[in-house]
Formats: sequence, structure tokens, C-alpha cells
Amino acid sequence: MLVLGIETSCDDTAAAVVRYTSGAWQIRSAVRAVQDETHRPYGGVVPELATRDHVNRLPAVVERALAEAGISPQQLDLIAATRGPGLSVALVVGHTFGKCLASVLGKAFLGVNHLRAHIISPYLSARGAELRGRRAVCLLVSGGHTLLALVDEHYNIQQLGATRDDAAGEAFDKAARLLGLPHPGGPHLAVAAESGRPDAFDFPRPMLSEPHLEFSFSGLKTALRVTVEKLRKANPCVSELSLPVADLAASYQQAIVDTLVGKARRALRDTGARVLTLAGGVAANIRLRADLEKMTVEEGAHFLAADPDLCTDNAVMIAATGALLHSVGHTSPMTEEVCPRPGLD
Ligand code: KG4
Ligand code: ZN
Repeated sequence: MLVLGIETSCDDTAAAVVRYTSGAWQIRSAVRAVQDETHRPYGGVVPELATRDHVNRLPAVVERALAEAGISPQQLDLIAATRGPGLSVALVVGHTFGKCLASVLGKAFLGVNHLRAHIISPYLSARGAELRGRRAVCLLVSGGHTLLALVDEHYNIQQLGATRDDAAGEAFDKAARLLGLPHPGGPHLAVAAESGRPDAFDFPRPMLSEPHLEFSFSGLKTALRVTVEKLRKANPCVSELSLPVADLAASYQQAIVDTLVGKARRALRDTGARVLTLAGGVAANIRLRADLEKMTVEEGAHFLAADPDLCTDNAVMIAATGALLHSVGHTSPMTEEVCPRPGLD
């Protein structure tokens, strides 16, 4: 089956072609236009500007994905587009484009849940092929969502716990803004942390000792703000530039990582699963990958992280998930609407 995937849920305009045969995926092309420059002056994603960029760029991005895959639109079996969660005005662009294309070509269309697609992304790596068909705990950490889920042998997904407030990526992004680092904050904070000491400041590990699988990151962000305010008060001459940004970033990053690792360890123990998968934008974080890998070794489990280029939003995971669902009979009607609200449905 040849599938075109389209992703426009936030600030990445992406299209990809994936071939799916006998339970295996082959990535034929992956094209992404990022919007970092558009949103940088505002310190965060501006929905109207994201939508304008999607409208302007999507046709060329889709054309390139088809060209790089070396196929004509008529050869496609399915067009899959992100249905939600995400920014509703942004989602509508890719979802409507996908429906129109499917309708004109007389092909099947499928609206795909963005979170389920992130959860499928680790299986698209070379190592993922070895660990398919095994019961796994997935830690999904992105800008909009943070959750733990149990994935069974048939990729059925059951949520085990989620964040009660901010997502891990949001916690990275807000902290980066507080420290005067540019948008997108997560990767910049991670770079700043490389030259800092993770034990320089003592930030909380929220809800780590509580016997459930939920997260809360808003208090951590407040702890950082209070620490920065104290540093400024202690030395009124402290400007943004002379804050100990590297130490603050490293300590803050470690608090997030320790919390995620602790909850993932609990999920492995609670479920008895012997595979931990990692997905979502924050999964690109080197420290998180290293500490999770160490923990899974300690637990006698396997660790499977999505390839770095499939961690942040992409259309490969949308095409791959569309293929998987279509192969067991799913399609969407042309009357389907986007579904921006958070969740796995
Ligand atoms: O999955 P994603 O592309 O979008 C959503 O579905 O939300 O995730 C984007 C998030 C942003 O918050 C970004 O700052 C964060 O992932 N991120 C990182 C890193 N790379 C991206 N956070 C920490 N360290 C990184 N290296
Ligand atoms: Zn995402």
C-alpha cells in the first residue's frame, strides 16, 4: 500500500510517502518546511501565522514528497492527514487539502490522531523492526502532550497517565523564554544545559514519589521563576546576560528528565512490559534518551526511541499510522471534521 501523509497540526508543514507491506513500513520520502523564523519574533507559535504558512507551502511540500518518492498521485492507495489534536486553524489546512486531493483522485482518505502517530514513530526505525509485536510502555513527550501509554502486540493503545497541566515540551519552552533563550526553546535550553552542572540548583521532581502515572510540570516552571527572581534580587546588577544560564538550564533539564525517567520506570514495573518506547519532540533530548536507556538496562527491558528526525512533528508517522489503520479497514468520510482537543481519539 502506498500512502501520502500530511501534517499541519502546529508549526511544521510536512508531507511524506510511505509504503506498507506485510506489517512493515518503508519510508519513500519525507519533506518538512519549518516555521521557526516566522514565529521567533513572537517567542512562540502564532496560530494565524502558522496557518498562513501552511496554506502557502503545503502544495509545494506535497508535490516534492511525491517527486522524491518517484510516484504519481494516481499510484497512491490512501491519503492520510492529521485530524488532531493541534491548533484548529492549522489542522484544517492539511486535513482539508488531504480530503480534496483524495476526492479529486478518487482515493481513500483517513484522518489520523497525531498522538497515536507519535506513538507509532519508534517502530519505524531499523531497531523498531526487531521490537514490533511486543507489549510496550510508550513515553510520549511533546510540546502539547506528555503521557504514558501501554501499546499491545497489535498497536492498540491504552493511556496509563498524562500531565495534569503543562506538557514536558511546554515546560522546556517556557523555561527557555524565562532564561532569555530564543524560540524554539527546548533545543536551545538543551544546548545551554550541555555546559552547565545538573546539580547546581535544586529543583523539585514533581509527583515522583506519588504512586500513579500522572505528571505536573507547572510547579517546576514556577520554581525556576522564583530562583531567577531571587538571583536578580540578590544582585540587582544581574542582567539577562550574566544569569548562570547554563547551570539553571542543566539543573532544570535534569529535574524534568528525572521525573520522566521515574514515572517510566514505575510504568514498566506496574505493567510488566519489557519494552520502553520514546516518542515526541522532547524525545530528541540527548540527556533524556541517555538516562532512559540506563534505566531500562537496570530494569532488564529494551529501549526503543524514535529516530531523531521522527521525534518532532513529521508526516512519515501520519502516513505510517494511516497505513496501519487502513490495512484493518479504517477510512474517514469526506464529512469528517478536525478534532483539535487533546486526547488519543
Ligand atoms: O512533537 P513536537 O514537534 O510538537 C508537538 O506535537 O507538540 O514537539 C515540540 C516540542 C517543543 O516543545 C520543543 O521545544 C521540544 O519538543 N523539543 C525539545 C528538544 N527538541 C524539541 N525539548 C527538549 N530538548 C530537545 N532537544
Ligand atoms: Zn507532535
